[in-house]
Amino acid sequence: MKRYVIDREFGIDELKLEEAEIPQPGPGEVLVKIKAASLNYRDLLMVTGNYTRNLPFPLVPLSDGAGEIVSVGGGVTRWKEGDRVIGCFFQEWQAGRINSMVPKSALGGAGNGVLAEYALFREGGVVPLPEQLTFEEGATLPCAGVTAWNCLYKGGLTCGDTVLTMGTGGVSLFALQLAKAAGARVISTTGSVAKEERLRELGASEVINYKKHPDWEKQVLQLTGGSGVDIVIEVGGAGTLLQSIKACRMGGQISLIGVLTGQRGEMNPFPAVMKGVSIHGVYVGSREMFEEMNRTIALHRIRPVIDRLFPFAEAREALHYLESGAHVGKVVIAMP
Ligand SMILES: NC(=O)c1ccc[n+]([C@@H]2O[C@H](COP(=O)([O-])OP(=O)(O)OC[C@H]3O[C@@H](n4cnc5c(N)ncnc54)[C@H](OP(=O)(O)O)[C@@H]3O)[C@@H](O)[C@H]2O)c1
Repeated sequence: MKRYVIDREFGIDELKLEEAEIPQPGPGEVLVKIKAASLNYRDLLMVTGNYTRNLPFPLVPLSDGAGEIVSVGGGVTRWKEGDRVIGCFFQEWQAGRINSMVPKSALGGAGNGVLAEYALFREGGVVPLPEQLTFEEGATLPCAGVTAWNCLYKGGLTCGDTVLTMGTGGVSLFALQLAKAAGARVISTTGSVAKEERLRELGASEVINYKKHPDWEKQVLQLTGGSGVDIVIEVGGAGTLLQSIKACRMGGQISLIGVLTGQRGEMNPFPAVMKGVSIHGVYVGSREMFEEMNRTIALHRIRPVIDRLFPFAEAREALHYLESGAHVGKVVIAMP
């Protein structure tokens, strides 16, 4: 089979395309013929050596893929050949609280991911592909979708709440779609004039351009009668957190997930204390959350927003495209 690997050299153009043996499923494992994979900002960090340089080389990158089961290992009872499935970001987080073993089972980081024609998963590390979704759509869900779900629904979202999303990347658009499905009002930011209308089409009640309004938190306060939003989906990190706290209502919540403004920085945490704001660190989510989200997606007929589809042979171009930030929603790679 063909697969891409990161092999000690970092950089998008250093990704190696190579031939490898098709892996065989051991006890409790399933082998999936990958039909589509999707990119996350994390994959960009991983491939360029900005996530960690301590990887199990050679490493197949990408966490998110969907496909068809082609064989099952000993003791597997839940799946059979031909089942259409999506892989879970964490192979070892079924339900309940996160624990220290969970990150060790992350695909495309701790172990091989899905940028390959075939991939192995744990029996409990895949979920059924919702019937109304294509493989390409299903492949967008494991990281961005589940993270958005965890931020909102484990963050105490209630009908009538106001949610703030930042930018038009994968997580933010799922947060917009899932929050709308729950009956929330969504205020969205973007740095691009061209993307403002797209956010409105997707259901954002108000859109703020953070380049035109570098003090966007003031606009958010104005739009909420001075009180602030109930939940912020914080993808910026150190460079935006203080503004997010200011945009949040007294007693509101920040779901802290991203590092788009960089992985270092300092900020004064006191405003969070004075507003009684809760900061909820989110690391994707469990298989149980994935299945809960899929029920909502099916019920509300939510279609993941796919910006562009690249062929497997152009995986490097797809990563360069993600890096450019031109996308709205998800960038997907279709397998041969
Ligand atoms: N903790 C977790 O479990 C978890 C899970 C998934 C993702 N993440 C993190 O969340 C972040 C987003 O991931 P993603 O995969 O959704 O990214 P993505 O699809 O690459 O989206 C990036 C988008 O964010 C917007 N953006 C860039 N800089 C911004 C800024 N300073 N303020 C506001 N928006 C900005 C841009 O949209 P516009 O062009 O519209 O401005 C850009 O296109 C990344 O840092 C990623 O590592 C964390």
